[in-house]
This record gives sequence, structure tokens and C-alpha cells, in this order.
Amino acid sequence: MKVLKIALLGFGTVGEGVYRTIQSHGVRLEEVLGKKVEVVAVLVRDKEKARNISKDLLLTTDFDEILNIPQLDIVMEAIVEKEPGFTYLKKAIQKGCHVITANKEMFAHHGKELLELAEQHYVSVGFEATVAGGVPIIQTLRQLLNVNRINKIQGILNGTSNFILSEMREKKQSFADALHLAQEKGYAENDPSNDVEGTDAFYKLVILSKIAFGQQLDWSDINVAGITKITSELVEEAEELGLRFKHIASVEQENGKLKGSVKPILVGRSHPFYHIEGVENAVNVEGDIVGSITLQGPGAGMFPTASAMLEDLGQLSKISKQYDSKSFSVKTNKETRRAAEYWLICNVKKKLLHPAIENVERLKNGTSIINADEKVVEKVREQYPGMEYFKIIGGYNEINRSGSTSLTATL
Ligand SMILES: NC(=O)c1ccc[n+]([C@@H]2O[C@H](COP(=O)([O-])OP(=O)(O)OC[C@H]3O[C@@H](n4cnc5c(N)ncnc54)[C@H](OP(=O)(O)O)[C@@H]3O)[C@@H](O)[C@H]2O)c1
Repeated sequence: MKVLKIALLGFGTVGEGVYRTIQSHGVRLEEVLGKKVEVVAVLVRDKEKARNISKDLLLTTDFDEILNIPQLDIVMEAIVEKEPGFTYLKKAIQKGCHVITANKEMFAHHGKELLELAEQHYVSVGFEATVAGGVPIIQTLRQLLNVNRINKIQGILNGTSNFILSEMREKKQSFADALHLAQEKGYAENDPSNDVEGTDAFYKLVILSKIAFGQQLDWSDINVAGITKITSELVEEAEELGLRFKHIASVEQENGKLKGSVKPILVGRSHPFYHIEGVENAVNVEGDIVGSITLQGPGAGMFPTASAMLEDLGQLSKISKQYDSKSFSVKTNKETRRAAEYWLICNVKKKLLHPAIENVERLKNGTSIINADEKVVEKVREQYPGMEYFKIIGGYNEINRSGSTSLTATL
């Protein structure tokens, strides 16, 4: 029986997870692929590190040694940062290897080039693990794209931010304490800026928008904000209204242009993201036929991420012949109806004055809830220096004068 030869680039959390799962699930992979799967080489930065790895395979720091392996079939990449991963995968594709990557930073920047190059060389690029870890959102979108048009995608795409927000609410911790706990538990890096400032979620949104809308989302298209401005006081105030802060990345197409955001949003209990807690990720897709679908699951970690990469491997038997980068784009409903939205406004002690807003509710501590279009809210902020605003989705508890609460439906 022919052996499918794999080279693994990176042997950290993800690379080791892939290696161990190939060992433990070899029989199943053979059933799916019709071939025995073998890791023949591993590329790392430091060869001297102790690793639990077979002595029979090639352990190297030199990518040329990988390229020289005769009849190498697949290169699976789990290195950090854009380079050297991009250069290595380009060379692997040019050599005729299928490639599978977990590297979202690299893929958000260079995915288009890799897909086009792969098309020229009749090989495939798997990238399920770049978005939401073990949640099979890429495959789901591919399935949906055949007939449905995607109207909108939104997701809780950064588990570290979601963990911090959950801890702040449940345990009444400060942002700094919750971040410290995330670092202790290994959910956040020593330098957590990519996670808490929204960059990581933005990379994933770039990848999702390209699949769903066939367009590359750019930094300049959207405002990227993280969770660093969320205080425990704000979290508590939101809780009183029946709302939870979630860090949400979203993208939709309006008149042929992509419109998106990456920022904290207040979520009411009728929204599927309300109950997404801790390091979980979730993605909600609105298709014009199917309506709203939400997938949730582990957004990171050794085995969930390995699972996504191995599912890409399992797809190889089906897609190697018919793969083409254009199949990742779909047309969207041009006539997306927009209506006014509800917003929590903070740090404005007086009544907000603007002809296009309705002050739905004035609360304590300079906060109020208004009903307006986002463009109007942005204009209003120019008048009120220091004003912060958070979108509300999924309903909130209206606090009437008698102090009792009732649920108000929002858009
Ligand atoms: N961790 C997750 O849960 C997760 C989930 C989804 C996606 N990802 C993505 O998967 C990738 C890997 O993440 P990870 O958590 O596994 O990272 P990691 O634990 O830091 O491991 C990185 C691996 O890459 C190797 N490496 C780094 N720079 C290299 C270079 N210049 N040349 C060759 N090898 C190099 C390292 O070698 P040494 O071992 O010698 O240092 C290490 O084995 C990242 O792009 C990440 O964004 C991670």
C-alpha cells in the first residue's frame, strides 16, 4: 500500500498535537484516505530541545532537507509569525506538495497568494485550523456556499478575550487580574497584546470574509478594538441590564463593499453568543436560505487544533483534483436591509442630543441606552469627548421607574 508522506513544520503545542494524533489515529486515517499516513520529517527552530519523537524520522532546522525528501506528499505547518512559514509553504507547493496550515497570521496576510499558487500546481491548501481552532467553520462555509448566499458572519474568535470577560463577570475580577489568571492557565502569552487588542480576531475575520465574500478585508476597512477598555464597573452595569460583554468580530457585505468590526459588544440572553463562556469560540453565519447557524466549540489547544488539521488531511482524498481558489467566493445579498440599532453609551452625564437618536433609557453613572444607526452614534461621539459606546444585540433588561425589569427585543 502506498504511504502518504508528511513533513511537519513546527513541533510546539499544535505540531506535537498533530504528530500524536497521527500516531493514535493511524488506522482511522488509513480507512479515510486509503493510504497509510507517516510523518517522515519534523522541522523546528531548536534541534537540541528534548522531544517525545521517533528516532527514525528526520528532525531538522534546515527546510532544504525537507524539500529534498523524495515523493513528499504533504507539508503541515504550525510555526508562529508570517515568516518563515509563508516562504516554506510556497516552496512546498512549487514542489507539488499539498499544504495544511494552522498559522492564521501568515494565512491572513498571504492566503490569497498561496491559494492561487496551489491552483497553478494542482495541489490543495487546508486552513481549517486558522479560524476558531477545532470548530469546523471553514468546511461549514464551503458546504453552505453551494446555494446559500452569506449575508453576515460574526464570531467570538479569541478564546483568551472571552475567558477574561467571563472571569470579570463571574468572579468580579479586574481586567488585570483576569488577564493574569489567563496567563497562569496558559491561555494568554506573556505578551498578550494580539489577543486582548483584537489583532488575533481580526486575522481570523480576514480569513472568514475571504471565504464567504471572496474579498480581502483590509485594516483600513474596519475599526479593530480589543477588550482593554472594559472595566469591572462596566461589566457589572451590563449584568444589571441582563447583558454580557463579548468580543465579537463581524463582517457583512453592503453594496458590494465589506463592512466589519472587531470590538466588544453587549449581548442579551436571546442571542446565541450570550452563553459562550471561558475559552470557547463561536461563529454565527446568516445564509439567505438556511437563516442563522451557530457553531461553538474549543477555539484552541493541542488536540482541537490538531483535529482541524487532520480533518483537512481527511478532505485531501476528495478535493485534490477539484480544488480551486475561486470556489471560496460567493455572491451575497446586495439588498441587506439596515435598521437602527441599540447602543449602551457611557461617560456622558447629560441627555444625548441629536435629531436622529432616541434616548431609550438613561441609567446611572453617565450611561444611557439609545436607538440609532452606527453612523449617527459615531457623529454623536464627536460632540461628547470621552464618550464610549457598545452595540447591544439579543435584547436587554429594560429598567423602568418602578425598578422592575422586562426584556426588550433588539435587532
Ligand atoms: N496553540 C493553539 O491552540 C493554536 C490554535 C490555532 C492556531 N494556532 C497557530 O498555530 C501555530 C503554532 O502555534 P503553537 O501554539 O503550536 O506555537 P508554539 O507552541 O510556540 O510552537 C511553535 C513551533 O514552531 C517552531 N518554530 C518557530 N519559529 C521557527 C522557525 N523560524 N523555523 C522553524 N521552526 C520554528 C518552534 O520550534 P522549537 O520547538 O524549536 O522552538 C515550535 O516547535 C501558530 O501560528 C498559531 O497561531 C495555534
